[in-house]
Amino acid sequence: MKILVTGGSGYIGSHTCVELIDQGYEPIIVDNLCNSKEVVTDRIKEISGKRPKFYLGDIRNQTILEKIFNENEIDSVIHFAGLKAVGESVTKPLEYYDNNIYGSLVLLKAMKKANVKKIIFSSSATVYGTQPIIPYVETMQTGEPTQPYGRSKLFIEKILQDLFKAEKNWSITLLRYFNPVGAHSSGLIGEDPQGIPNNLMPYITQVAIGKRPSLAVFGNDYNTPDGTCVRDYIHVMDLAKGHVAALNNNNANNIQIFNLGSGKGTSVLEVISAFETVFGKKLPWHFAPRREGDLPAYWANADKAKQIMGWQTKLQLEDMVKDSWNWQRNNPQGFV
Ligand code: NAD
Ligand code: UD1
Repeated sequence: MKILVTGGSGYIGSHTCVELIDQGYEPIIVDNLCNSKEVVTDRIKEISGKRPKFYLGDIRNQTILEKIFNENEIDSVIHFAGLKAVGESVTKPLEYYDNNIYGSLVLLKAMKKANVKKIIFSSSATVYGTQPIIPYVETMQTGEPTQPYGRSKLFIEKILQDLFKAEKNWSITLLRYFNPVGAHSSGLIGEDPQGIPNNLMPYITQVAIGKRPSLAVFGNDYNTPDGTCVRDYIHVMDLAKGHVAALNNNNANNIQIFNLGSGKGTSVLEVISAFETVFGKKLPWHFAPRREGDLPAYWANADKAKQIMGWQTKLQLEDMVKDSWNWQRNNPQGFV
């Protein structure tokens, strides 16, 4: 069964392609390579024995999408393509709305034209906004994300909900990711941020490899057990499996929302400590002021995904740090 994977050469998309192949699906990638490299498809082949078909193209280009749908009998779409840097979205809102929202609209219209009506969308825990109640559960009202990136995710969720209200023959799954980290255990694919990493785990591994002098831990005076922020980290291979579970689950005409997280909160200092254990040395780090916009603590209630899709995380923090480090150590310059 052919699955169109938009943004499939990116971090989460590439791991999901490996899992799709492993489960007997045939991923077909469309990616404009604005944040990834085509060599990823070589690595996917090295891991899984099969190279996914790759289309170089932008999802805002209707012609390329029509070509893909005409040339391949696509069953479903997993939609990862988008821009994702929260800070950058504040300075480039138009680019973010254009890429994420307009791109999704073009994709949905092309899907409709091709009569492909099953989509899994990469949403984010950011759509909960600043809820006072933890853990976050899908039945909560969404909140007000404080930046364009988060708003783009919320808008796309709403667009998909409106689409389903109007056209009941779609199968739509909104997956709200918590904090994806880690890499494939082979060390052949992983997260490859351009420039200075925004997120914790790639920053840690770049300090460990000697690319950055020290990790700044943003804030030590939060109302949390050790004063640092608490998040729900999820191994990217567990996340990849969540997409296959969603693909297998939603064959009826409906719309469903799932949190994809471990259901457990972990502080920044706990992540550092777990990393130091596999690294075998102390990591240079220091406390720095809070980062604007950071919430003190949140994690997922992940019960719904377990009850309905039979999916839950299996990998632990130790696996996340081990695999992140293995990827970084084997690829000090990322994909070259
Ligand atoms: P990524 O940047 O590694 O992957 C996204 C891919 O999409 C890249 O390969 C990029 O080149 C491609 N792309 C971007 N715009 C495109 C366009 N207009 N046309 C074609 N290709 C395009 O990001 P990721 O971490 O793999 O994230 C995948 C999805 O999951 C994104 O939508 C992101 O917002 C969402 N998400 C990510 C996280 C996270 O922490 N990584 C958390 C929540 C949600
Ligand atoms: C961020 C985004 C969120 C997005 C998510 C994807 C913000 C405000 N939120 O979440 O919308 O969905 O990435 O994974 O950017 N930290 C440090 N030092 C660093 C980097 C991070 O101490 O150099 C801390 C942060 O303060 C945070 C934790 O590590 O407490 C995790 O940070 P990060 O990986 O950036 O993810 P989030 O902030 O949770």
